[in-house]
Amino acid sequence: MTLAMLIFAALTEGIRAVQRSGREGFAFGHGRRPLLQPQHRGGRGGGPRVVRSAAADGQAVAVGPVQTTEAEVKTPAAAGRRSAAVVQTAGGTKESGVKEAPLDLNPPRGTRDFFPDDMRLRNWLFDKWRRASELYGFEEFDAPVLESEDLYIRKAGEEVVGQLYCFADKGGRRVALRPELTPSLARMVLAKRGQLNMPIKWFAIPQCWRYERMTRGRRREHYQWNCDIWGVGEVTAEMELLSCIVRFFESVGIGSDDVGIKVNNRELLREVLHKNGVPDDRFAAVCVLIDKLEKVPLDHLRDDFRALGVEGSQLDSIAASVRADQTVDDVAQLVGEDSQAVKHLRDVFDMADAYGIADWLVFDPSVVRGLAYYTGVVFEGFDRAGELRAICGGGRYDTLLEMFGGEPIPAVGFGFGDAVVVELLKTKGLLPDFADTSVADAVVWPLAGGDETSTVQQAAGRVATRLRQSGLKTDVILENKKSKWVFKHAARVNAGVLVVIGADEVAGNEVTAKRLCDKEQQRVTLDGTHLEDLAAEWAMGEGG
Ligand code: HAM
Repeated sequence: MTLAMLIFAALTEGIRAVQRSGREGFAFGHGRRPLLQPQHRGGRGGGPRVVRSAAADGQAVAVGPVQTTEAEVKTPAAAGRRSAAVVQTAGGTKESGVKEAPLDLNPPRGTRDFFPDDMRLRNWLFDKWRRASELYGFEEFDAPVLESEDLYIRKAGEEVVGQLYCFADKGGRRVALRPELTPSLARMVLAKRGQLNMPIKWFAIPQCWRYERMTRGRRREHYQWNCDIWGVGEVTAEMELLSCIVRFFESVGIGSDDVGIKVNNRELLREVLHKNGVPDDRFAAVCVLIDKLEKVPLDHLRDDFRALGVEGSQLDSIAASVRADQTVDDVAQLVGEDSQAVKHLRDVFDMADAYGIADWLVFDPSVVRGLAYYTGVVFEGFDRAGELRAICGGGRYDTLLEMFGGEPIPAVGFGFGDAVVVELLKTKGLLPDFADTSVADAVVWPLAGGDETSTVQQAAGRVATRLRQSGLKTDVILENKKSKWVFKHAARVNAGVLVVIGADEVAGNEVTAKRLCDKEQQRVTLDGTHLEDLAAEWAMGEGG
């Protein structure tokens, strides 16, 4: 019996208990932690030294591990003109090159750290989004998180414009962290106009930044699944998008009893505005104000409407036409059956039957959405319990390209944030359980000390490389560790097999493989692929 085998025999009885406790520990932490929530709330202990400097133009610039503060992002000039690196000490600030104030260990307010448990959930969600997108034939794309500020400056009074994280870069260019992806997409389409095959069906999962008042499910950064179709003016495009959203919900166990999608057509409002003598150039701004009616009483918005030339009985008539309890027939009576807006809406509801998503859709003329660029059908996902803010939202924006100076191309899409849906999944008990996730299939343990250490470590490296090349997730014990530690570690990473290499094994061109779920262990020759085959088989078993 080799040394490795002796150690195995002695420890075998404890392996199951160690694996159990390792899993329970993981499950316990996972279950307690608010996932996709800020959770790293360390104290203000002494932390790494932080150096903050100022650019020649007075912009605060980060040097080393530093985060620009909210005040600096909002008003860069507030940082003042400083020519040298600044040292902050417990007693204050002095000009000498090093800052020693303790580092705040929290991520900036409204942002999140993603520890491995959180990443598991994030990746799971992204995977569901990717699968739904790919199922509908969307191709993935991305754009920079930092864009020119101009891309977002619109004058219709949208909340999102006031929530920009924007600043001047070192070259004095005004830039912004993207609050949404749609303007970047429009920029990209415009840049390649004439070269792209229409229709474009693209999806992305960008991180978006908004300096937002934080409520349940609303944060200052969020990931937002986007699917957009360009080049199609028919409601067939809306149907694909709505159906794609529903497929995603179904894939995570959410049904039409839990969630609905409110649908409206902004063209209806345009027709109502025409009837009330409101000129077309006020349309976008009026839509933004109507969107606010959900949260703000009409009387508080009268001044804002008046500023747009909408007041008195004219305003009351417009407000009445967007009451949530109106049916499509009510609205058709108001604007006439020959209205194109009504026709498009009826088309959506008729096709919803064919797509099998009729249970999900609800007509709601009060939904106009807060972004100025929407032109036609708009929609918003909501939880039927009424506890959460909008789960997702989108619509048609046929004129956005024109706003950037291009020829108009019909376009429609949606954005779907990660935060609200995770709240919903949590409430419904639908969050996946990652307790049995295996970080490694196999753990390789070089077991030697003294003169043989280096030889045995090299042999372990060779074996780990072989296992990895065969496709097994393989972890290597990197330092000299006691067997108790190794078994505990193997249980924590949920490995199925431990591969031990001592001096005897090296001499015999062998390893000792141990299946971690029971007592079985074998000496395996390194000739051929016996080890890879056995490790794969054992990794598949319990714990693999
Ligand atoms: P949006 O309604 O501003 O639309 O955002 C879409 C979704 O992103 C929301 O329904 C919500 O799920 C999520 N979201 C937005 N802001 C936050 C926040 N502060 N914290 C957490 N989640 C948030 C747009 O952004 C459009 N660009 C979507 C679109 C794409 N329209 C056409 N194509």
